[in-house]
Amino acid sequence: MSEPRTRRLSAGMVGGGAGADIGKTHRYAMRLDDQFELTSGVFGRDRGRSLALAAELGISEDRAYRDYAEMAAAEAARPDGADVVVVATPNDSHFEIARSFLEAGISVVCEKPLTQASDTAAELVRLADGNGAFLAVPHCYPAYAMVRHAARMVRDGELGTVTFADVEHASGWASSPLELQGHKQARWRTDPGVAGFPSVVGDLGTHAYHLLRYITGLDADRLSGRLSTLVPGRRVFDHATVEMELTGGVPARLWASMAATGHNHGLRIRVFGDKGSLEWQHEDPHHLTVRDLDGATTVLTHGLGTLSEDATRLTRVGLGHPEGFLEAFANFYRDLADELRARRDGTPLPSRELTIATGRDGLIGVRFVEAVAASHHGDSAWVSPGASIQPGASSQKAGI
Ligand SMILES: NC(=O)c1ccc[n+]([C@@H]2O[C@H](COP(=O)([O-])OP(=O)(O)OC[C@H]3O[C@@H](n4cnc5c(N)ncnc54)[C@H](O)[C@@H]3O)[C@@H](O)[C@H]2O)c1
Repeated sequence: MSEPRTRRLSAGMVGGGAGADIGKTHRYAMRLDDQFELTSGVFGRDRGRSLALAAELGISEDRAYRDYAEMAAAEAARPDGADVVVVATPNDSHFEIARSFLEAGISVVCEKPLTQASDTAAELVRLADGNGAFLAVPHCYPAYAMVRHAARMVRDGELGTVTFADVEHASGWASSPLELQGHKQARWRTDPGVAGFPSVVGDLGTHAYHLLRYITGLDADRLSGRLSTLVPGRRVFDHATVEMELTGGVPARLWASMAATGHNHGLRIRVFGDKGSLEWQHEDPHHLTVRDLDGATTVLTHGLGTLSEDATRLTRVGLGHPEGFLEAFANFYRDLADELRARRDGTPLPSRELTIATGRDGLIGVRFVEAVAASHHGDSAWVSPGASIQPGASSQKAGI
């Protein structure tokens, strides 16, 4: 990073307990650039489980609080108190929790939908502005490098004038009544008291609408929505189609669903202009498809040297590596941690058939190199990699 680095920012979290969905994603994400340190939290309503997770996360006992109100007061009073608190609880509690921290002048990352009604959402915005705090909502899709590039292309007029936009966040995750089968996240998302009757609009529609606004730079002047419940007996709407008229009369369409059978995450956007169009899908995030007036198609790839600065500053892995490359490394370190912990703590060694490469694999690699070289020197003769090196020398080198 080119910016000067000061001490890490101190972060707190409310929600994100053991078995919760998105809280851990926030924790992983905060660690990636090493700019945040999780120092306080309330990880669920169950005190014992919250304390256990806090200990696992290395949070000192005096900063593992009983509830968010106690946490807001205590963190505001500390000279080294939280710079930001992440609110990763179900929707019905966002307002009260975020308000406590903003009132104390602490910045907040509050999960979407920000609150259950626009008056309470507006109150949070006012509180943040009035108290010098920053209020952020993790509509995270525009943080993909290729979405930033898409937005840059539209801003720079590369598609010409925007004529139509079509966005869908049509997921199939709740195409059956999971809420009746004890599925934790489905239970509250289909409870009108927690998620509201237009549940899918708050859950997925807000992401889709934000993505559409972000790329096109246009807002909906008016809209016509239709809500349905596709899974019989479900108590909330799980499917929504919305026709919109964006700024300047540009037509647009949004489809949000948690019951799009067979779809995985199902987030896709297409934006059309009078010179060209673009398409981006979350399940192939490092590609942006651009088409010109004649239909000639260019696929731009994450990491290309010709992308905008907006995209480049968000790119950590080089051309040819998908974002998943970092996760593959994280998985390597996860398996390594199991090995190291067993050795450090004297617990049984993991006995997985499939795990990470060890020194033995490294040795086999070196033997392979030597065998290929030996074969080449022998006029491409057949060589056995196992027999191509001095056993004594190789054992010494590999320590076996
Ligand atoms: N930005 C995204 O991409 C994204 C993705 C998934 C979920 N979300 C949002 O994140 C929020 C959480 O969703 P989830 O799927 O992780 O839910 P979840 O049910 O898996 O987890 C919620 C957690 O909050 C805890 N909790 C509930 N009330 C609490 C309280 N008063 N104090 C402390 N902890 C409390 C629960 O014990 C649990 O640990 C929702 O608002 C959801 O819309 C956002």
